[in-house]
Amino acid sequence: MDKIILKNFAEGLLKDKKRDILHGIDHSDRMLKAVDMISANYTYDNDILMAGAYFHGGIHYGEEPIRRWLTSRGYNDKSIDKIIKVTWESQNKSIPETIEGKLLHDSHTIEGGKAFFILKPLLVGTVIGQTLEETIEFIENNIFTNEECYLPESKALIRENHEYAREFIGYLKSEIEINR
Ligand SMILES: [Fe+2]
Repeated sequence: MDKIILKNFAEGLLKDKKRDILHGIDHSDRMLKAVDMISANYTYDNDILMAGAYFHGGIHYGEEPIRRWLTSRGYNDKSIDKIIKVTWESQNKSIPETIEGKLLHDSHTIEGGKAFFILKPLLVGTVIGQTLEETIEFIENNIFTNEECYLPESKALIRENHEYAREFIGYLKSEIEINR
């Protein structure tokens, strides 16, 4: 599968949709980069993985355009079904069965790295109009518990992210004197 052609099509799916910097096509790029950090011990189909990453955001607007496009590119029904399955498996609350789905699901969680991990909820909090105090409270109550990963490689990385984020929030709170 040609990456540029795939990416152009996937970008088209998100066109005119309100996407922030966390959920645009850049998110798919970061996911693929994160796959490199966790995939060394696994055998997987790179075409299916790449397609799942780029359709990760666009599939929410319907499977049909994706299925039609894949058919036009010469993919058979079996391959298309697998790509669609992997794309759904890559989503937040899914329970992935395929290795491609597990790699994408986990890479969606660990994308970026330690600094990006804590940046995400801070940005989202700002975008949805929370105060910094509210965002910090949300982070403390949620992000250290609900980031489930499936592969041991990702679990190790997410633990590092949590550790860094806890330290960061600790500094932030003392510096802005929350709980004064
Ligand atoms: Fe995602």
